[in-house]
Amino acid sequence: MGFNVPSGPSNGRIRPRVAHVVGARPNYMKVAPVFAALDQRCTVDQYLVHTGQHYDAAVNDVFFAELPLPKPDVQLRVGSGRHGEQTARALEGLEGIFLDIDPDLVVVPGDVNSTLAAALAAAKLNIPVCHLEAGLRSFDATMPEEHNRRLTDHMSTLLLTHSEEANENLEREGIPSERVELVGNTMIDSLLTSLDRARERQACRDFGIEPGAYVLVTLHRPALVDDTEMLVRTAAALEQLGKVMPVIFPIHPRTQSRLAELGLAPNGGVRIVAPESYERFLSLQADAAAVVTDSGGVQEETTVLGVPCFTLRDSTERPVTVTHGTNTIMGLDPERILEVPALLERELLRRCPPLWDGCAGERAAAAIERVAARAAHAPIPVIREPALCVA
Ligand code: UD1
Repeated sequence: MGFNVPSGPSNGRIRPRVAHVVGARPNYMKVAPVFAALDQRCTVDQYLVHTGQHYDAAVNDVFFAELPLPKPDVQLRVGSGRHGEQTARALEGLEGIFLDIDPDLVVVPGDVNSTLAAALAAAKLNIPVCHLEAGLRSFDATMPEEHNRRLTDHMSTLLLTHSEEANENLEREGIPSERVELVGNTMIDSLLTSLDRARERQACRDFGIEPGAYVLVTLHRPALVDDTEMLVRTAAALEQLGKVMPVIFPIHPRTQSRLAELGLAPNGGVRIVAPESYERFLSLQADAAAVVTDSGGVQEETTVLGVPCFTLRDSTERPVTVTHGTNTIMGLDPERILEVPALLERELLRRCPPLWDGCAGERAAAAIERVAARAAHAPIPVIREPALCVA
């Protein structure tokens, strides 16, 4: 496989082995704080495996440059494809990698196809799985991510959650509470660590736009982008919005290719720009008057930043961003984009959900080292105080 694996358990393994599997852009900021916290604790040997689901530099390499994540120990190249195809390629590749690394625990973040493939490959090899960001449910079975979440949760030995609602969902599905640990939101650790640098950037000025004077847009979900009529209506609504307020739209490769296919190019006040790096995108969020999105992570980040977020979906798997934060679910209804300027007049709650405090990576690391030690029949590490918290 072209990577170094220390000697196995029967020939003198000293520390349990933990393999983290990432594949797509939203995975990196979730795993980075956990990886860093485990690195500090020196209680496990860590491996980072990348499936290659995302491969363009703009949605991949640039995040490794800005987050405390090492270069992956193993790089698969599953690439794009139909869901079954992509998941199957990752499943097959990961099985071989797990047989080589022989991890005591496999950590999988989020809900992308790589997450499900990694959980399934590990479960079939009887390797315990830790699901980071477990228990989220949109209750919308048309979302591929909903299947990935449910199936991964039910294969996991350790389920690390970020909100009470997630724990309730898991309890309702009969998952034993001993497996579930509410650790908070590791993605928010990454945000808090990077926020000062991000704020200094004032990336909006590169587009000739002042902080607080624009709407930031991100749209990439199949329900919106793969449906021609929906995408045509969305492009028209953005063009209308752009006449009232400048719009900055860093575009996902999927959305870009669909717009090109249909010959759509919203203009006027709409700036369609290349995907942004992590810090620049945080800067654009922090300085936006509002964000229009169909992303999951952006709903959480705007909640912590206190920036109004308008989610162009019928549901959210992150209701805490509505009950505590700044998120409004607009429905899958592109014309509602035009209501955004008026809706900015409303008062918002702007409460930070409990445990979204910059210490979630430490709490996750403590749970992971305990379960990995148990799986490896190694001594359980002494509980330590969080060392890496940014809060
Ligand atoms: C995936 C996740 C989604 C997540 C999103 C973040 C699944 C089911 N979906 O969606 O939950 O919110 O990542 O970005 O796992 N493409 C490129 N370059 C790349 C990657 C993709 O051009 O590096 C294009 C390809 O045309 C590809 C399409 O984007 O077919 C979709 O990529 P894919 O990884 O299948 O899903 P995402 O839409 O990125």
